[in-house]
Amino acid sequence: MKTSISIVSGPSSQVLAGRVARTLGCHLADTEFSTFPDGERYLRVHNIDSCDHVVIVQSTPTDSDYISLLQLIDACDTSDRIDVVIPYFGYARQDKRFKDGESVSARALAHAITADHVFTVNIHNPGVLSYFDAPATSVNAAPAVGEYIASMKLNDPMIIAPDEGAIDLARSTSENLGVGFDYMEKTRISGEEVSIKTKEPDVSGRDVVILDDIISTGGTIVETTRLLKENGAKRVFAACIHPVLVRNAVLRIFAAGVEGIIATDTLDRSVSVVTVAQLIANIFEGETIKQ
Ligand code: R5P
Repeated sequence: MKTSISIVSGPSSQVLAGRVARTLGCHLADTEFSTFPDGERYLRVHNIDSCDHVVIVQSTPTDSDYISLLQLIDACDTSDRIDVVIPYFGYARQDKRFKDGESVSARALAHAITADHVFTVNIHNPGVLSYFDAPATSVNAAPAVGEYIASMKLNDPMIIAPDEGAIDLARSTSENLGVGFDYMEKTRISGEEVSIKTKEPDVSGRDVVILDDIISTGGTIVETTRLLKENGAKRVFAACIHPVLVRNAVLRIFAAGVEGIIATDTLDRSVSVVTVAQLIANIFEGETIKQ
């Protein structure tokens, strides 16, 4: 049955939500958010009572964004159907108990989300999807990133996964592009420091794109770039789905000799040159009455 969809955005996904609404040709709700003097968040979605199908779009890179997501779901509780799109689901990397007594944060946060269906983009570990009480689906933005890389007209390009966790992402992108692929072996030393084992990749004289799901502090990209340069790579680019990019990550990456950073708009950053709006709109296409 076709219903009239309203896109409802939280503070972290305003650009993407606007693009999804434009792509679907549907209503974009007017949402107000602010912070009380004591730091508590306030949120109000205007004219939501008459909406029968709400699609909430809100990434959760910070705790405050997560609170906003919970507030959005609560504010929309008069709707017949609530689908929640969390383009970047924070805490997904704490997907298991690495040490005794740790919280499985991804599970704790997923459990608190009530919805008819949850959608996310390239979740760090697909196993996390089972932590949501609602059916949950992760859509794949790698083809969109691949299309962008193809448009860059690189010289004898190669895609490199900086660790084993990024192998599927990098391999599928390289296969779509019909270019070479390799991966590194990473050991994490601390939150900011990693050690990458050389595998002497065949990168001499070639343009190389390091592709990871997340770039956070930039430590992984910096260390991988160093090794690629040592092995004769001509130009190195860094690409990811989720540009978390904390603190001086962008500076560190450029200072390491990277030519450019390519990322999607699951998080709204200056390097978010690939949009996932069409990918998200595809989920709901055919379900909406154009307005
Ligand atoms: C970890 O497993 C992820 O896939 C990324 O490799 C990691 O989050 C990158 O972090 P950073 O940019 O801080 O090295």
